[in-house]
Amino acid sequence: MADLLVVGGAGYIGSHMVKWLADAGHRVVVFDNLSTGHADAARFGALVVGDLANPDQLRALFAAHRFDAVLHLAAASLVTESVQNPAKYYRNNVSNTLNLLDAMREHGVMKLVFSSTAAIYGEPQTERIREDHPQRPINPYGRSKWMVEQILADYDTAYGIHSVCLRYFNAAGAEPDGLLGERHQPETHLIPLVLQAASGRRPHITVFGRDYDTPDGSCLRDYIHVQDLCSAHALALDFLTREQRSTAFNLGNGDGFSVLEVIEVARSVTGHEIPVMYAERRSGDPARLIADASRAHQLLGWQPRYPNLADLIAHAWQFEQQQAA
Ligand code: UFG
Repeated sequence: MADLLVVGGAGYIGSHMVKWLADAGHRVVVFDNLSTGHADAARFGALVVGDLANPDQLRALFAAHRFDAVLHLAAASLVTESVQNPAKYYRNNVSNTLNLLDAMREHGVMKLVFSSTAAIYGEPQTERIREDHPQRPINPYGRSKWMVEQILADYDTAYGIHSVCLRYFNAAGAEPDGLLGERHQPETHLIPLVLQAASGRRPHITVFGRDYDTPDGSCLRDYIHVQDLCSAHALALDFLTREQRSTAFNLGNGDGFSVLEVIEVARSVTGHEIPVMYAERRSGDPARLIADASRAHQLLGWQPRYPNLADLIAHAWQFEQQQAA
């Protein structure tokens, strides 16, 4: 059993993570400013409402608890918003992370699992992206995460903080028992929006761009179940205990689905009509993002439990039906 701090533990991925760790028998403290998260989603841990921008709150948090490791999932994470408001992204994602790292150093907490992203790679030069693919992000969100990855490498060298950066591809899905799911306000992600169109909470789904260089002209993404992200984080904590060094892993299934294919799978899972409209490309969107996650399979022993897109959509649909009720 470990004492763990989950920063951003009231958010979509963070809340699933907290429940996962609590179910595994760990003691979990959640630190979250509730700017996008929900207090009730953090109920499987002990919630401390506070902000990474406030070093005094961080000091008090670390003084009150002894943590074996930190999982940092708090960030602004919308590609288009980052293009329009980069200041928010560099402040939230880079500068506030420095505050967290300072508090960790001051209190001798030397292990960190960091939520990174496929957005650090930019336009892929290979069909599947490996961790050593050039890092040339094409939007401020990706740049902010890549900056933190570089900072973490320097902090390992200088201060001995070991970190695992987990580069998520497209996180989606919900807890299979229906207790947690995706509840962004406003929602911008494809799968929950498609399912809101299926349940009638929205009139249609808008497909952004039909002229990409892909088989059907819509963007290809690698959708990874949120529960499979959780298992990877747990394995990353084991890695940090075992190996005492820093590294990064891609987390995806290695299959690319187009926006239109996602809608088709959702039609078949839900049995509902999903009306489609088309609009211009969204700024900052690369045409394709598909993971080569073999490094995580080999070094972490990670095996996704729900690699099938229909299962992922079925879990998200169960959650959407509760929200729509
Ligand atoms: N899309 C639509 N219509 C919508 C919403 C999305 O066509 O209403 C398309 C997007 O253009 C994109 C795909 O569906 O091609 C997926 O879009 P999401 O908004 O669901 O996810 P993103 O790919 O933009 O971003 C997600 C995370 C980022 C992360 C990225 C890495 O939100 O944090 O995956 O792959 F950087």
